Amino acid sequence: MASDSDSHSAGKQRKSFWILVGRWRRHRYVKVAIPLLYLVAFILVLSKFQYKGDTHALESSRSFSLPSLGAILNRKHVKPDAKNKLMEENRRSQNQLLEFPYTADVTVLPNAPYKHARETSDMRATHAIYFEAINRHLVELQQNPKAQIPEFDFHWKDWIDMHDLIPLLEQKPNCFVAGVLGSNVRTPWPGCIDAKNKDSSELNFYFDSPASDYESAYRLNLRGKTYLVEVAPLPRKLIFLAGDLAFVVQVAEKKDVVRSGLLESYIKSQMARYNHTYQQVISSPISVFDSLGEIRQTLGRDFVDATAPGSNKTEVSIDEFEFPANKKKTKLAGAAFHYQVLHYHDILLRKKDGGESREKYDWRFFSNLIEDEAEKRSTWHQLIRGWLQFSSNMDITTWLSQEALLGWHRNGLLSPWEESVHFEVPARDMIRLAESFNGSLVIQDPRDGTGVFYLDVNPYYMERARNNNGDASPESIDLKFIDIRTGLYLEVTGLMISSYGLPIPENAMEMFINEGDVLEDLKDDRTVDASKRKIINSGTGFFYHIDQISPLRRTLFEGRLANVPNRFISILDMLYKDIIKTKEFYGHKYVDHLRLWVHSDQCNYVPTEDIDLFKKGGSNFIGACHDYSIWGEYNRTKTATLFTLLEAENDYNMVLSSIDELPLLYDDYWIRKREKFLNQAYDIPLRL
Ligand SMILES: *[C@@H]1O[C@H](CO)[C@@H](O)[C@H](O)[C@H]1NC(C)=O
Ligand SMILES: *[C@@H]1O[C@H](CO)[C@@H](O)[C@H](O)[C@H]1NC(C)=O
Ligand SMILES: *[C@@H]1O[C@H](CO)[C@@H](O)[C@H](O)[C@H]1NC(C)=O
Ligand SMILES: *[C@@H]1O[C@H](CO)[C@@H](O)[C@H](O)[C@H]1NC(C)=O
Repeated sequence: MASDSDSHSAGKQRKSFWILVGRWRRHRYVKVAIPLLYLVAFILVLSKFQYKGDTHALESSRSFSLPSLGAILNRKHVKPDAKNKLMEENRRSQNQLLEFPYTADVTVLPNAPYKHARETSDMRATHAIYFEAINRHLVELQQNPKAQIPEFDFHWKDWIDMHDLIPLLEQKPNCFVAGVLGSNVRTPWPGCIDAKNKDSSELNFYFDSPASDYESAYRLNLRGKTYLVEVAPLPRKLIFLAGDLAFVVQVAEKKDVVRSGLLESYIKSQMARYNHTYQQVISSPISVFDSLGEIRQTLGRDFVDATAPGSNKTEVSIDEFEFPANKKKTKLAGAAFHYQVLHYHDILLRKKDGGESREKYDWRFFSNLIEDEAEKRSTWHQLIRGWLQFSSNMDITTWLSQEALLGWHRNGLLSPWEESVHFEVPARDMIRLAESFNGSLVIQDPRDGTGVFYLDVNPYYMERARNNNGDASPESIDLKFIDIRTGLYLEVTGLMISSYGLPIPENAMEMFINEGDVLEDLKDDRTVDASKRKIINSGTGFFYHIDQISPLRRTLFEGRLANVPNRFISILDMLYKDIIKTKEFYGHKYVDHLRLWVHSDQCNYVPTEDIDLFKKGGSNFIGACHDYSIWGEYNRTKTATLFTLLEAENDYNMVLSSIDELPLLYDDYWIRKREKFLNQAYDIPLRL
């Protein structure tokens, strides 16, 4: 409490300081305060950039890592490229490549004098460069409270793995030639666009739309990546998460870290901090935690406020489900349904064996099919933690739904077979997400790994909810939170107060009858009595009574603070009556002493004495079904699953705050993949 009123009563200086820093607060007024701060930020940004000076663009292309792919977006006021004097001076030494003296887990700058650094993109380096820039702005704001709100340049090529495009940059095929890629005959590649008269460092073909027919994984990967680097719109905002803070910056222009000068500024900061030469900085390991340490010092606080009061519930008032009608939007949504104009596009994959399937990966960010259960598991883990931390830090109310709720109820984790994950939010938060965060990138707390998520709100969000009508718009999902490293995404739907006379679907009716006390808020003919303002529904056909949802219960899911509906049991019972208690499901079985799902053919017999050992908090190989990977899984998850037991004993009424959150449970899939690749392609040793 004290720290909150602090930031508000303090002077102007602190105020502008906190514009940059979205603070995590639990109090009501924040819902008003945060949008106001954004407004201020926008106004400042609009009046910015009376930049004079050299309009001559420095061609930095070959000087480091990947050749510049150039900007083809036409912008009105093009800011000149940064001058990068230091890098120019050191150009010669930069071109001398050295042997990489570290293991594959070590991060270096994109202009480091090592072959792999020039040919691959390490997102951790990008994150470090941006966090360092945030620190410089925080320092500047403290010294000069009138300093401008930061705007950072951005280029997709710094944020995705660009390795696959390198041969295409060297050989420069056009669409005709590109027709052979991933094919055994030269067939035209549908949708391919020739990019003529372009800079020698740019691609000569790209795509601007998803495939309309099935394609190989290789082609789908190139399709998405050429789209991103050539024509994709820039994100609207970048939101960097760290503990219970979020740093929100606007995006300025399409420029990579070299042309924007961010890389050079990073190098200068490091030279000053460690009294290193240019050469020393670019050939040494770097870490984002270094920059985070500086930010912590600048702010004078830890990223997690350990003194923040905990809570056991969150009230959600019925007013938060108000969703004003917009005739124009409704009409557009209806037209989109009529012509089946979809907003989201999953990939249409032709597998190596010739099989064809639609897979749940966003086409823009697809890289490869993730078939390994453990790898997929770790991607979901980061996605879920990213969404929960983002919504908590930005004061967006969200709770677990469907398979997320089911998995949580069992052991606090998503079940291993799940192929989709759903969350729900009240209408007001969905509106805020659409208006303030649509098209933004959320950068995961570096302690949670390398995840970066693109927030994409359907233009016809919640139109289906109004009349629970599938014809009202082509898609039922209101928001996707997409992992840009893999294309996998979470699905989020908004809930609104149900319209007058809407019939209650049978499954919801059964639930209401079981609940008893909520029945009086329905009309006798079992339709919605809107005057009571008690029934809410989503565009996916789910109906709830407000008392079933609110007050939300605080809990942990995948180790992070989360919310579940107040009467989650009745909702689970409606959705999953037959599996809520089952021990066998979908090729898996639940092993009580491990508190985990394992494959059905595993753990056929475990001696009682070993089960007893687990019950006492120990573990051993035999008890872990004499399987090292199950033992490893048990070790990772035991604290999280133990919490679920404890919580059930406490009637799901635990007082929790950020300090109760658990660290990342699974290894970062992207880092593991990169290490393996560096080892295979460049012979760089793996860490022990
Ligand atoms: C920085 O390094 C140089 C040479 O390595 C040394 O001469 C100088 O004293 C150092 N400065 C500081 C402030 O440590
Ligand atoms: C937690 O919930 C219980 C009842 O549900 C309530 O009596 C108690 O005051 C709550 N505790 C806190 C700290 O909010
Ligand atoms: C969100 O952004 C995308 C892409 O910029 C756009 O197509 C979509 O209509 C936006 N959604 C809303 C609700 O404005
Ligand atoms: C699990 O943890 C135990 C005890 O800490 C340790 O001895 C064992 O080697 C671990 N097993 C695996 C597979 O990581």
